[in-house]
Amino acid sequence: MPVTIRRATIDDLLCMQNANLHNLPENYLFKYYMYHILSWPEASFVATTTDAGDESDSHMEELTTHRAAHAPTKQDPCYVRPGEKLVGYVLAKMNDDPAAQQAGTALNGHITSLSVMRTYRRMGLAEKLMRQALFALAEVYKAQYVSLHVRQSNRAALHLYRDTLEFEVLDVEKSYYLDGEDAYAMKKVLDTDELHPANFQRGQLKDDLECDLLQDLDAASASLQQGIQQIKV
Ligand SMILES: CC(C)(COP(=O)(O)OP(=O)(O)OC[C@H]1O[C@@H](n2cnc3c(N)ncnc32)[C@H](O)[C@@H]1OP(=O)(O)O)[C@@H](O)C(=O)NCCC(=O)NCCS
Repeated sequence: MPVTIRRATIDDLLCMQNANLHNLPENYLFKYYMYHILSWPEASFVATTTDAGDESDSHMEELTTHRAAHAPTKQDPCYVRPGEKLVGYVLAKMNDDPAAQQAGTALNGHITSLSVMRTYRRMGLAEKLMRQALFALAEVYKAQYVSLHVRQSNRAALHLYRDTLEFEVLDVEKSYYLDGEDAYAMKKVLDTDELHPANFQRGQLKDDLECDLLQDLDAASASLQQGIQQIKV
């Protein structure tokens, strides 16, 4: 079943909040999600999937139209729209603390929340969501670094941040969470060249800018000419 990673919109917020309630004890008021999307509309991303992954496109369209026509009045909070289910999200922002701004701190971003629904874990979705958000924070909002907190006991998230995404652990913040657990405060310096999505999507197709495409064109046209000459009518 294909999964799409795309920018989060205001239509996704209820589903993001629903996923957050499912996956994490740190929850936020709906207006806080709104605040993120309205203030930094290009920083947050969602992973969604469709109900009928192996159906043909035309059948899919038919199915979606049918579902839209018969959609229940009370929407399933997992569905962004009929047929499109949210399976993960990353909610990101810029640091807008006036004290930091006054102190002349470099522009920096913050990962407020990240989660992937249980049955969609270990497929690389969290890494992809994070890479998109980090790139957007750097490219669009000019963040020079990004920070986040993670529970000391959260092995999965720790592996993702420290080992996969190469965040550095800055500090242990004692009793950071409401239940008294300590948090690792983490930071990653952002480099748009390193984070460019092309590096992680078929990176091997990168153009080395040394090969003249016209040379290939000459070779192709010569073999075409040869083929044409061999045609017997
Ligand atoms: C943490 C979480 C977002 C990871 O999502 P995911 O989509 O499964 O992660 P990915 O598939 O992108 O995996 C990224 C890396 O983490 C590793 N990883 C994922 N789950 C792991 C686990 N349970 N234990 C150890 N490593 C794990 C993967 O092997 C991968 O490592 P690699 O780059 O060396 O191959 C997910 O487990 C989750 O939603 N947990 C609940 C919410 C949460 O804890 N959010 C983070 C709050 S700070």
